[in-house]
Amino acid sequence: MIDVAKARAETPGIEHQAFFYNSGAGLMPRPVLDALHEHLDLEARIGGYAAEEAAAPKLQATYESIARMLNCSTDEVAVVENATVAWCQAFYGLAQDMQPGDNVITVVAEYASNFIALLQTVKRRGIEIVVAPNDASGQVDVAALEALIDDRTKLIAVTHVPTSGGLVTPAAEVGKVARRHGAPYLLDACQSAGQMPLDVQELGCDFLSATGRKFLRGPRGTGFLYASKAIMERHEPPVLDLHSAEWVAPDRYEMAATARRYENWENYIAGKVGLGVAVDYALSLGLENIQERNRLLADDLRERLDMIPGVTVRDAGVDRCAIVSFSHDRYKPEEVMQRLADQGIAIGNSAPGSTRLDFEARHLPDLCRASVHYLNTEDEIAMLASAVAGL
Ligand SMILES: Cc1ncc(COP(=O)(O)O)c(C=O)c1O
Repeated sequence: MIDVAKARAETPGIEHQAFFYNSGAGLMPRPVLDALHEHLDLEARIGGYAAEEAAAPKLQATYESIARMLNCSTDEVAVVENATVAWCQAFYGLAQDMQPGDNVITVVAEYASNFIALLQTVKRRGIEIVVAPNDASGQVDVAALEALIDDRTKLIAVTHVPTSGGLVTPAAEVGKVARRHGAPYLLDACQSAGQMPLDVQELGCDFLSATGRKFLRGPRGTGFLYASKAIMERHEPPVLDLHSAEWVAPDRYEMAATARRYENWENYIAGKVGLGVAVDYALSLGLENIQERNRLLADDLRERLDMIPGVTVRDAGVDRCAIVSFSHDRYKPEEVMQRLADQGIAIGNSAPGSTRLDFEARHLPDLCRASVHYLNTEDEIAMLASAVAGL
């Protein structure tokens, strides 16, 4: 379904390496690079402000593309610097109203930066963090999560795909539970955006945060936040400026009615244009198609790695995605990364500090992280597995 040869021809970065580092930062395709270059050239020629004005239709198109991808309205989309800013704008806005004894329910796979924000809120506001347990497959037990909700639950915060492995949290099931109990639901879709469909109506989330640079193959320094119209009726971000709010009288400001309230005035205009192009690129291939091909490639890699003595695949959950995590009983991830890099193969790694609850619960060592994407070939998968076997 996906024209892999075309996708590869449009990706300069694959010329000199077999690339499996998409969970770090994906390789930008030519149309994204062209959009970036074009806008930077325009800025150089006519100045940043005039260039922004000239790019207004393209900037508007970025919101429309993200809204199309997420199945929401353009008014529910904010474009920000990265996934962390997106998540924090949502979370700290809610945290402003939290009282001692309130709780936030999260999952074992929660991402470090999010958990640090929760811990900071324990310190500042006396909230409790409640971690929903996993089921036998290693994904969150949704029934157990539901049982933890009480009248002090002020948020359910869930990471869709953890940074450190192929688990896919059953996010839509969590969404049903959140809706049933009227609890705000913040979904971190940083690692799932670009590798699978994300329909916020189906997911049932109030907020969804994501980054541009990973599986979406957009520019670094870009991210976005979905905030539902309903939640925006009662949510104010922790940081406002003269773009996200208007100073209407000496003693009064009015917050933007739309998700622009989560943005800042100054931002990376070329990146914002490029992000829209990246989203269009993914949509033109079809996120279902991307997911299907990535599953095949990742399962192929897992099967091959599983057969190598001394190598253990570590991905948990029922539905496993494009991130393949594994350990080697003799080599640390840094050594594996270096030796593969010497052979023109790029992979990443994960340390406990990225997903500490999961690492500690499963007694995991530091992990190698090979994240496939649709433009990888079956030959590259075989090459990676044979390079690992050859260590
Ligand atoms: C699950 C998850 N959430 C959030 C982030 C943070 O994304 P960003 O670096 O764009 O802020 C990452 C980054 O790796 C991630 O893996």
